[in-house]
Amino acid sequence: MAVFNHALFPGEYLAEKFPSLRFLPSWFPGAKFKRKSKVWVSAVHRLRDVPWERTVAKIRGGTAIPSIATSLMKDVPDVKSGEVTEEEVAAKKVTATAYAAGADTTLSTMQSFFLAMASNPDAQRKAQAELDAVVGRQRLPTFADRESLPYVCALISECLRWRPVAPLGFPHRSTEDDCFRGYFIPKGTVTIANVWAYSRDTRYYPDPEAFSPERFLKDGKPNPDVLDPAAFVFGYGRRICPGRHFADASLFMLTATVLHTLTISAPLDAHGHPVKLEGKMTAGVISYPEPFEADIKSRGSWAEALVRESCSAVNV
Ligand code: HEM
Repeated sequence: MAVFNHALFPGEYLAEKFPSLRFLPSWFPGAKFKRKSKVWVSAVHRLRDVPWERTVAKIRGGTAIPSIATSLMKDVPDVKSGEVTEEEVAAKKVTATAYAAGADTTLSTMQSFFLAMASNPDAQRKAQAELDAVVGRQRLPTFADRESLPYVCALISECLRWRPVAPLGFPHRSTEDDCFRGYFIPKGTVTIANVWAYSRDTRYYPDPEAFSPERFLKDGKPNPDVLDPAAFVFGYGRRICPGRHFADASLFMLTATVLHTLTISAPLDAHGHPVKLEGKMTAGVISYPEPFEADIKSRGSWAEALVRESCSAVNV
């Protein structure tokens, strides 16, 4: 993931501007990018191959737990034979792409969620009260509860807005001359969307630095007049994030389950007061909260029992 974060940063290497430089031999002075890319390519290939090979071995041995890989492998003819088919190669690349593009982006949002909960006990209490009323203490939340959990959904939208995962989107190069609002954009221009600025647009988000799920609600229901951060944090147009629905589902399930079963709080200082968390983010195409401390406690023996029960159901 560090390789992606570095390689996607625009303007770092001259070869981006002059693609013919890629034909330079790696020992050539200034061709450091070639020496680096050799190491990077092997890291990326390991990411693609190692988890796949482990999972396929488990599928062949009949011990794999359900996953994208097991679903895709159902369509691969004669999986037990050990012969690598074209379908398997495609399935391997799909899972690697989903993992590479989906894991750290979702992780960064979840880290921001923990940061937000540790810094905003009121929002956390309201979400937990909603979960207690709708889900109760006999079971974990499911997707069927989603419609009845507007505060939890607003809280997720606020996490996406408050700390956008890709604050400058992903760089794009224009493929032809263009004109936008009187600005001429020549073919080949690298354009960067200021997602961070959109997330701070006070027309939609007054007091933008505050973490406030309420801004997405009106009379306890989703407010259609407030711009949904999903409209910009996942990019736009043809290259919009194809995993956004997957991310949306994962974030709901993770957030609702964590809020239902755990309480997150800031650590206490020597006087017993909660420490104010700075909430700084790292630089890079994908941005993460800088490491911070938080106390994470079970909401009770009922919560622990529910989590253990659900883990044993999928054999983990
Ligand atoms: C909170 C979670 C996520 C965020 C914020 C996010 C955000 C983004 C953004 C900003 C882009 C670039 C769009 C552009 O080029 O303008 C992107 C691309 C992409 N995302 Fe996501 N993403 C998330 C989760 C996921 C997940 C879970 C998957 C897969 C399961 C995924 C798969 C992809 C892929 C394959 C691309 C490249 C698409 C292309 O270049 O055509 N993403 N994502």
